[in-house]
Amino acid sequence: MSKVLLILHVLAAVIAIGPVTVAASMFPAAARRAYADPGSGLSVPRLLNRICRVYAIFGLAVPFFGLATAGSMRVFGDVWVLVSIVLTAAAAGVLALLVLPGQNAILADLGAQPPSEPLTAGRVAMYTGVFNLLWAVVTVLMIVRPGSTTGA
Ligand code: HEM
Repeated sequence: MSKVLLILHVLAAVIAIGPVTVAASMFPAAARRAYADPGSGLSVPRLLNRICRVYAIFGLAVPFFGLATAGSMRVFGDVWVLVSIVLTAAAAGVLALLVLPGQNAILADLGAQPPSEPLTAGRVAMYTGVFNLLWAVVTVLMIVRPGSTTGA
């Protein structure tokens, strides 16, 4: 059972978090291009934003199956699991409260005439960097599992 849950957990991480990472990382440059050349249209930043929003929802499967795997393996009390839960919640918070609203604000601004660039693409790039770093640290924790007594 643990193996099935672990497979679903890792599949969800690869399929959902991967696209969010790529699309969110590409968004600031696409926004800058749209500001620099207003005639180029908004289809690319809009598509990247949509990928982030849709795959962020799929991404909820990662902690869901992660918690189920931890329960099934009886490792819930382990420090690495508790730290992963906190860091995953922090990553989700950064995505939901900073990255996505920042992208939405930029898209709304780009749609206005004339755009005023209230929130710089650089700031959204910084939020995205924090998000990427947080889940990269969680991935390292998942593999290194400091303090784990259940094997390498
Ligand atoms: C609520 C947060 C999370 C919990 C409770 C959790 C729990 C777990 C558990 C119990 C395992 C099995 C470890 C083992 O085989 O001994 C695991 C493996 C794994 N998790 Fe998570 N996880 C969480 C979040 C994440 C996130 C955010 C990612 C990456 C985006 C991730 C990626 C992985 C990977 C790649 C493995 C396979 C590691 C291996 O078996 O070597 N997990 N996770």
